[in-house]
Amino acid sequence: MNRRDFVRTTVGATLAASATRSLFAQAPTIMSNSIKPVVISSANGNKFKNGGEMTCVHKAWTMMTQGADVLDALIAGVNTVELDPLDTSVGYGGLPNADGVVQLDSCCMHGPKKRAGSVACIEGVRTPSLVAKAVMEHTDHHLIVGKGAQNFARSMGFKIEDDLNTDESRKIWLEWKRRTDPEHYLDPEQRTAAGNKVMMEMVAEGLIDRQHIYGTINCDGINSKGEICGVTTTSGLAWKIPGRVGDSPILGAGLYVDGQAGAAGSTGRGEANLYGLCSFLIVENMRRGMHPKDAGMDACRRIKGNTVEKRLLNSRGEPNFGVNFYMLNAKGEYAGVSMYAGASFAVCTEAGPQTVPCEPLLQGKPED
Ligand code: GLY
Repeated sequence: MNRRDFVRTTVGATLAASATRSLFAQAPTIMSNSIKPVVISSANGNKFKNGGEMTCVHKAWTMMTQGADVLDALIAGVNTVELDPLDTSVGYGGLPNADGVVQLDSCCMHGPKKRAGSVACIEGVRTPSLVAKAVMEHTDHHLIVGKGAQNFARSMGFKIEDDLNTDESRKIWLEWKRRTDPEHYLDPEQRTAAGNKVMMEMVAEGLIDRQHIYGTINCDGINSKGEICGVTTTSGLAWKIPGRVGDSPILGAGLYVDGQAGAAGSTGRGEANLYGLCSFLIVENMRRGMHPKDAGMDACRRIKGNTVEKRLLNSRGEPNFGVNFYMLNAKGEYAGVSMYAGASFAVCTEAGPQTVPCEPLLQGKPED
């Protein structure tokens, strides 16, 4: 079965199954003594449906509990968001870089197989998570970037498109471009400062979803056999310097999975997470017995401690950016944590898909 047949078959099977499923009612519970299958993700994993019936976490949980490989199920879930033109943080229609080009990053890890793959700065493929999986399955490497990643995708049979912008993402980019100093290309530092100022103005005016500036989807799951996998996929920082890569495709940063310990992934300011490789830190802490929530909080504290540059601090001397972590351990316990209050995450258990608040480290707003 080729890749397209696989996607078509699994999507069809999942949709057919959903029609016969009863609707879910109860709140999710955390089970400590037995492994109940669970899928967690960033909040956009329970928001966008790409015109279908199920969100990312719902689709992944349904496929996983019907026997699909955990990683296949998670990737099918995030494909929904990658392909959805309404999510401007991921895949097709993700906010482009400073030159107006959509460059995507993704990685995935398979706990039982102890294999991983990633791509960064890939252009022209709507579903970078599937290319990351192809790197994992068909190469001896873990990370392929830029033109090389696109050539690899082409050779694997992926459709390469000239432009992944939608009318909406191009419209927002043109507005950003119009407002930015036309000479901003001269000095990368000034350009970044001018770009950030305009971006915050556009957030305040409601033109950009704040969550989509660094927006990403991370999705992690465990099945009843205790098999754990994870995937992260993103269009990265909006208006980034072309070639910039954040945390999402970097193993240990945007995602880390250990079949014996658990999975962790992130959304938010990738530069902050890259500095501490926090997904690895979280999984190692869970291996030592820390609860997922405590391990996530430890990562937030680590990032706060590492943030000392004035330009990254608000008036309270705290980080002026958001970062979120989603993690589950080998017992199926899970949590979502964030630097600041107000973030949420998605979860799907036998109780159905839900969006629940992240546990915050800090109160107030990052920019105040
Ligand atoms: N966390 C996504 C990025 O920084 O690119």
